[in-house]
Amino acid sequence: MTGAFITFEGIDGSGKSTQVRMLASVLRLRGMDVVQTREPGGTPLGARLREALLDAQEQVDPLAELLLYAADRAQHVRVMLRPALDAGRVVLSDRYADATVAYQGAGRGFEPSLVAEVVALATGGLKPDLTLLFDLSVAQSGERSRQRTTAADGGAHGHDRLELEAEHFHARVRDAYLQIAAAEPERVRIVDASLSVEEIHAHVLEIVVPFLENRGQWSQVKTQ
Ligand code: TMP
Repeated sequence: MTGAFITFEGIDGSGKSTQVRMLASVLRLRGMDVVQTREPGGTPLGARLREALLDAQEQVDPLAELLLYAADRAQHVRVMLRPALDAGRVVLSDRYADATVAYQGAGRGFEPSLVAEVVALATGGLKPDLTLLFDLSVAQSGERSRQRTTAADGGAHGHDRLELEAEHFHARVRDAYLQIAAAEPERVRIVDASLSVEEIHAHVLEIVVPFLENRGQWSQVKTQ
């Protein structure tokens, strides 16, 4: 495998999707071959699973939820991630397996050993080379999420099924992410997501540029 696999994680409202886009465009401007993807929904099958998984009207059993995220990931790994990495591309994924550990493990309460087994099955052992964890307090994320929803929406509209979970659910998810970062400090780097978009972007570059340089992948840069 010659590419680089970078994942973006964090609680809902942490601003990571904006940062994936900003990093992808900087790397592309530098002439790098970048694949920008996400979970759930990085493949055509995944897009259909995403719609079902996030539908606020859908009643999803927790085990079905765990397995549907795993199904999305199995398809994503085999159809998109592995081929892209084998071709030497830089893959930026908005969420990956840590999200299952945090949301279905800590959030829903599935046994860590079961979650680990399901993750291993779906990923076939594919791990990110680098993970950026966008850390934000649950109160701040709730505030951002409220700002996104206009009064005219009448409250619940605009929020997906997971976003509508209670505050203590999101607190468990955040703690689980921080525990993953503490356990794997080499792979998982924490980014303060309470800063401005531009400040966060600068911090992301401070982490990603040396990471790619060390792998000899920043040298693909085209002079502008
Ligand atoms: P997004 O809002 O970051 O696109 O993610 C969609 C939602 O799916 C988000 O609330 C987190 C949730 N999720 C899980 O619960 N488990 C997973 O394995 C993944 C990838 C996402």
